[in-house]
Amino acid sequence: LANGLGLTPQMGWNSWNHFNCKVDEKVIKETADALVSTGLAKLGYIYVNIDDCWAEMHRDAKGNLLPKNSTFPSGIKALADYVHSKGLKLGIYSDAGQFTCSKTMPGSLGHEEQDAKTFASWGIDYLKYDNCYNDGTKPTVRYPVMTRSLTKAGRPIFFSLCEWGDLHPALWGFKVGNSWRTTNDISDNWNSMLSIIDLNEVYADLARPGGWNDPDMLEVGNGGMKNNEYIAHFSLWAISKAPLLLGCDVRNLTKETFNIISNQEVIAVNQDSLGIQAKKVRMEGNSEIWAGPLSGNRVALVLLNRATVPHSITGNWDDIGIPENSVIEARDVWEHKTLETRFVGNVTANVEPHSCKMFVLKPIA
Ligand code: DGJ
Repeated sequence: LANGLGLTPQMGWNSWNHFNCKVDEKVIKETADALVSTGLAKLGYIYVNIDDCWAEMHRDAKGNLLPKNSTFPSGIKALADYVHSKGLKLGIYSDAGQFTCSKTMPGSLGHEEQDAKTFASWGIDYLKYDNCYNDGTKPTVRYPVMTRSLTKAGRPIFFSLCEWGDLHPALWGFKVGNSWRTTNDISDNWNSMLSIIDLNEVYADLARPGGWNDPDMLEVGNGGMKNNEYIAHFSLWAISKAPLLLGCDVRNLTKETFNIISNQEVIAVNQDSLGIQAKKVRMEGNSEIWAGPLSGNRVALVLLNRATVPHSITGNWDDIGIPENSVIEARDVWEHKTLETRFVGNVTANVEPHSCKMFVLKPIA
């Protein structure tokens, strides 16, 4: 969407994966505090996004949405002021239907202009817009109504389309939003994570600055996967130019989780100015090679071992998109080491089970 936002994939946090409906203003404020005190905000995690369940089931007499009194008693405007005072941005959630997916609050269908104005007046910076309880009409009709309403609302608001089932949003999302879902919801396990990033890969050519494929939010730190699996999860999201929206409790981060989500070299791959989503360029059984161009003639590479036994994986220049005779310097972005070997023709690494190696390749001759 040409609203000047999302020139690189959005980064921040969202309440859903960890808190589901148990979100309140205390969690949001403490999360904002934690993003700043841990240094994550400085690394780019700036959106603090409230997901479903934040409003009362009834609108007020004028039809305005009402923050839920039991969980957001100070209101959303006060919360936005707080989050802004920390240098962060506040996101909110609604739905292009009669109710949101939780069915605990109204959706915005038929109230698009009014709700967009309300969000802008509160100081909202980001809207995630779901597709539950809709009237059966096409999302290509319902979503643009909110796009236009946000444009008129008088405040730049990042627009995240949460629709994946009805009409392949990747095919029409670029004109409507800044990101669009490509899959159903992620679960906190290895198979779900892989199936989702596989589905998302199909649409790689459609992502670009201003509009990104969204394979759903991160599960890193929620406990369902091993550390090496979470490293693969984060690597695949980064190289796929996916939104980096943390989904864990950032107030209580383990050292392992922090080390993953704060890896600046991996974040830099995700936020690279070219904004080209990597593709799966070769698969042999459980061994896969994911690669995509970066600025400065560099290439990002993930060697992924989906198997339960170790594998040696080789990526050839031909597959990776590097000119045949190039001599390459490889930076291992998880080891934070530039390898001494100069690579000609291919790069090979031993990859542990359910793990990956991630490199930034740079031609030196
Ligand atoms: C479905 C979405 O895909 C989830 O991310 C979350 O927003 C829930 N709806 C909330 O009900």
